Amino acid sequence: MPLITFHKNGQTFQDEVKAGSNLVVRAGIKQYPYPHLTYQCGMGKCATCACRIIAGAENLPPPNWKEKKQLGDRLDQGYRLACQLWLEHDLELEQIPLAAAPAVSAA
Ligand code: FES
Repeated sequence: MPLITFHKNGQTFQDEVKAGSNLVVRAGIKQYPYPHLTYQCGMGKCATCACRIIAGAENLPPPNWKEKKQLGDRLDQGYRLACQLWLEHDLELEQIPLAAAPAVSAA
């Protein structure tokens, strides 16, 4: 089962999820990473669920057209839309609201 490490507001949360899980769907049914993951539409339209991938990006599929449209240059900084990802492998990610995210990654 994928181990998901989630960072937000200086805190770190970690739990295993079933293979094929979507973190926004899980939050919608009040499972980890609920209540910490912020999201809205669940359909790739609002970018509220945007997270920066810290580790495990190599195991994710390429960004889909919704992610490209919503994230633009942020894709190059490692951002993905959590609602568009179905997780099969361990992943470490951080949620910073896009409005508050630095223009250039400091990593
Ligand atoms: S929740 Fe709206 S884009 Fe993911």
